[in-house]
Amino acid sequence: MVMTILGIESSCDDTAAAIVDDGFLLSSTVADQDVHKKYGGVVPELASRAHQQNIIPVVDLAIQQAGIEIDGIQAVAFTRGPGLLGSLLVGTSFAKGFALARNVPLIEVNHLQAHIVVHFIKEHGVSASHPPFPFLCLLVSGGHTQLVIVHSHLEMEVIGQTIDDAAGEAFDKCAKIMGLPYPGGPMVDELARLGDPSAFGFTKPKTDPFNFSFSGLKTNFLYFIQDQLKQDEAFIENRKNDLCASLQFTIIRILMEKLILASEKTGIRSVALAGGVSANSGLRTALGREAGKRGWDIYIPEVKFTMDNAAMIAATGYFKYLAGDFTGHDISPAARLPF
Ligand code: KG4
Ligand code: ZN
Repeated sequence: MVMTILGIESSCDDTAAAIVDDGFLLSSTVADQDVHKKYGGVVPELASRAHQQNIIPVVDLAIQQAGIEIDGIQAVAFTRGPGLLGSLLVGTSFAKGFALARNVPLIEVNHLQAHIVVHFIKEHGVSASHPPFPFLCLLVSGGHTQLVIVHSHLEMEVIGQTIDDAAGEAFDKCAKIMGLPYPGGPMVDELARLGDPSAFGFTKPKTDPFNFSFSGLKTNFLYFIQDQLKQDEAFIENRKNDLCASLQFTIIRILMEKLILASEKTGIRSVALAGGVSANSGLRTALGREAGKRGWDIYIPEVKFTMDNAAMIAATGYFKYLAGDFTGHDISPAARLPF
């Protein structure tokens, strides 16, 4: 039986829809929201309004680009959480309405789990190797930083996480201190390529074995820059590339040290990245380097699947459909949602 799933993602500031057919991605559309740029971060109220405007056109486009008829959709999967509540409400309400109107099942998806499921998205004409179970995944995004043992498509065990800021927040907040536009991560990545990673040394936190902390680094970065600006007003302008390279070097070192420890302690040598920060070129290179040294098999998602997207929601919906894991219409979104 051909199984066609519509996926809806609206957890933060991207409104996205995708169609997956028997596990193969047919289309993936996204409307991002420029409205937040001038505020230097996502404004929740504006995000919900933009989702309301975008959701129907984005779904319409996903159906058109997939080359299917609306009648062909057999289930709708949506992000239940974690995320911004007002944003999640838009996707959840749309999915419920769609499921009721079309008389198809509803499937709730955990956004974080879905970031990891990108490793199992299949595309026609693209050969990709999928990680074997169990594998270790470093999930790094704007809101989360977690070390996860992935036992199956749907069974995942968090063994460590950040106790304060996420890795993406560390990139974005430090970028903001340097006056870079939101979200700063991609630009730090770009400028870091032109700088010296050993130019400045920043704080590395002490935390429990598998947990992370990034708030100390952010404070250290801020105070360091404030001190330097007292002596040289143009310090940021003059040393921006070196600041980005040194900051990125520190964040990657914090992430990699924990990942190496987790692999040693669990004995798992299949290692994957997921989440927006896994687009970072330095992190991708660092993982490759460690793999060479340690004999790891590594799995790095295509950049288009690192950021928030609905392909990952539809793909997770597909595995839940196979498992018969459906959701009632009394479901409500959850800003916090454990695996
Ligand atoms: O997964 P994602 O799209 O949204 C969340 O679920 O949070 O991740 C967004 C985060 C932002 O913090 C952004 O700055 C970061 O991913 N990011 C990067 C890069 N591309 C995106 N951080 C560092 N280097 C990049 N190339
Ligand atoms: Zn995300």
